[in-house]
Amino acid sequence: MNIILLGPPGAGKGTQARILMDTKGFIQLSTGDMLRAAVAAQTEVGKRAKAVMDAGQLVSDEIVNAIVSERLDQPDVSSGVIFDGFPRTAAQASALDEMLSSKGMDLDRVVSMEVDDELLVERVSGRYTCAKCGEGYHDSFKKPAVEGTCDKCGSHEFKRRADDNAETVRGRLVAYHAETAPLIAYYEGQGKLVTVDGMAEIGTVTASIASALEA
Ligand code: AP5
Ligand code: MG
Repeated sequence: MNIILLGPPGAGKGTQARILMDTKGFIQLSTGDMLRAAVAAQTEVGKRAKAVMDAGQLVSDEIVNAIVSERLDQPDVSSGVIFDGFPRTAAQASALDEMLSSKGMDLDRVVSMEVDDELLVERVSGRYTCAKCGEGYHDSFKKPAVEGTCDKCGSHEFKRRADDNAETVRGRLVAYHAETAPLIAYYEGQGKLVTVDGMAEIGTVTASIASALEA
């Protein structure tokens, strides 16, 4: 099964993608994570993407489509892919349709995660992740069981994203509403859209996604 998690910054795409990965064995394909890895490794793509990401704008379709296409050539995608943060523009959505059909893959469901803008700023501003395994946490909504220790891998090192400040989040929300939100109608037209309430608690959202995928 291949699915898209569609939603604004802080909607919980990464959180739910990791849960689906652990419980269903899917592969998480997060273009944000891939771009951050390219920035950290100072590759050509990373150098081109860094300033754009720090400003909360969208990296070019050309760069993003190329990294997704390359990732879809890996054999592990046969376990099922969760697209997290891709596609984000109409051009990316049609490129994905073409990529999937040329690789003999189907798109099964598009899960639209709905969350109000005011809550998103709070979610993103309080987010941090384990520097070792990438598990996500939040200052108020998801603290590790033992303070300062990752629940998953026991590491004591955490990090925050450069673009997770209130000002940049507002820019990312503008980009979301202008470029990405129209994809909701695009996938509704393909008969693949399911909508979940992303304002609920993490476990409740997980359950709604599970039933949406079974339906
Ligand atoms: P990307 O990394 O994809 O960021 P984003 O879309 O802005 O989404 P986030 O990762 O901020 O949010 P999320 O939905 O994953 O939320 P999370 O689960 O972490 O992209 C970053 C940048 O890269 C873009 O701005 C752009 O520049 C570039 N880029 C990436 N893809 C691109 C593309 N396709 N095209 C062009 N440019 C691209 O949750 C957030 C916090 O809330 C966490 O702390 C979590 O613990 C908490 N939380 C989650 N769910 C709940 C809940 N239900 N209740 C309470 N707290 C919750
Ligand atoms: Mg994310």
